[in-house]
Amino acid sequence: MTDEELREMISRTLTCRIDKRENCGDKMEEFLKRCFYHSGQYDSEEHFAELDKKLKQKEEGKLSNRLFYLSIPPNIFVDVVRCASCRASSGNGWTRVIVEKPFGRDSESSGQLTRSLKQYLAEDQIFRIDHYLGKELVENLSVLRFSNLVFEPLWSRDYIRNVQFIFSEDFGTEGRGGYFDNYGIIRDIMQNHLLQILALFAMETPVSLDAEDIRNEKVKVLRSMRKLRLEDVVIGQYKGQSKGGKTYLGYTEDPTVPNDSLTPTFAAAALFIDNARWDGVPFLMKAGKALNTRRAEIRVQFRHVPGNVYKKNFGMDMDKATNELVLRVQPDEAIYLKINNKIPGLGMRLDRSDLNLLYKMRYPKEIPDAYERLLLDAIEGERRLFIRSDELDAAWSIFTPLLKELETKKITPELYPYGSRGPVGAHYLAAEYNVRWGDLAEDE
Ligand code: BG6
Repeated sequence: MTDEELREMISRTLTCRIDKRENCGDKMEEFLKRCFYHSGQYDSEEHFAELDKKLKQKEEGKLSNRLFYLSIPPNIFVDVVRCASCRASSGNGWTRVIVEKPFGRDSESSGQLTRSLKQYLAEDQIFRIDHYLGKELVENLSVLRFSNLVFEPLWSRDYIRNVQFIFSEDFGTEGRGGYFDNYGIIRDIMQNHLLQILALFAMETPVSLDAEDIRNEKVKVLRSMRKLRLEDVVIGQYKGQSKGGKTYLGYTEDPTVPNDSLTPTFAAAALFIDNARWDGVPFLMKAGKALNTRRAEIRVQFRHVPGNVYKKNFGMDMDKATNELVLRVQPDEAIYLKINNKIPGLGMRLDRSDLNLLYKMRYPKEIPDAYERLLLDAIEGERRLFIRSDELDAAWSIFTPLLKELETKKITPELYPYGSRGPVGAHYLAAEYNVRWGDLAEDE
């Protein structure tokens, strides 16, 4: 690729968010002029030395910082880090590296990767990205909890019956089967994105908003969690389906996936935090591809009102009358609280309604993409939304025994049709804890 081709490619997706729109064109031009393409081999120190030379020419002796963003297959992470750190580090400023998951496949391989990276980089140079932490609603979770008096006092086993973290996509692995088959949905979504949100949800109030204070609290939650057992989990895999004259291929029909693959594309799990605040509260997770809808949300189901004097006025199952707080991460960001209120009129009939904060109504401006926020944070050295190595270890130790057992026992996933609501096993899992999945109840 030439520099021009690269610029052309970037300009197709480049957006401008400055207030005076008329200057956008100039700003973008200015930015594009600073973009260059340089090719080389991942593991060639010589090629990185050439990159260093080129960068030095551009930097013209000024104070320069360098941020390497590794959006590359994990098997070459260490080679690239070695070459970059030995031959292309900044001479007078900082050098940082952003790495994308997968950070290993289990506790051992993740520990090995951390040790290898640390041969060349200090922990504060490594930015392990989890783009869910950069999503607006996930950032807002702590604001909601810690800056409103009304939520924090309820945030415990005393008032919360269960918490649900739900991720679904309405498309399959299309084209990414090669990567996905080696990892599966538990490693792809649960062990990182959903678990990170859980840690933020459940942590104690941090001493301050400094990265280390927040990450200290998150790691405490993760270390208080029970290791997942086989009986706490349901796994599924999507099968082909014909709908409305269209045929959707099953997971194993993807040419990049082995025909006999047992890799789960869906999983539901019940997790527990054995600490004073959350003892006994099920934290349910559900993640799947090729389902009926695309969404990511956190649902907090509260306990019944004890001795509810309106019991006879509900005319519905009291389970359906409990309060539920929903943070819809995507699409169509929203926070709403399900409450009970009186239907206007002479009688006394009660109804469910929502106290609703719909982002697109309240904040019509475009919400920055998670990666925008995270890249800016990495440049500014803000580590709050990046994963520290002890968090990663703690996260893997919750999932590793289960992942090993699934693989050694060759557990067969329950099949579900492409575009459906997923395997029925997920309902039974929730029912064991007396829980209904909030998203499904809402769709009914
Ligand atoms: C990635 C997973 O981390 O997140 C993908 O590897 C998934 O499988 C993606 O599709 C979802 O991200 P988003 O931001 O589109 O919800």
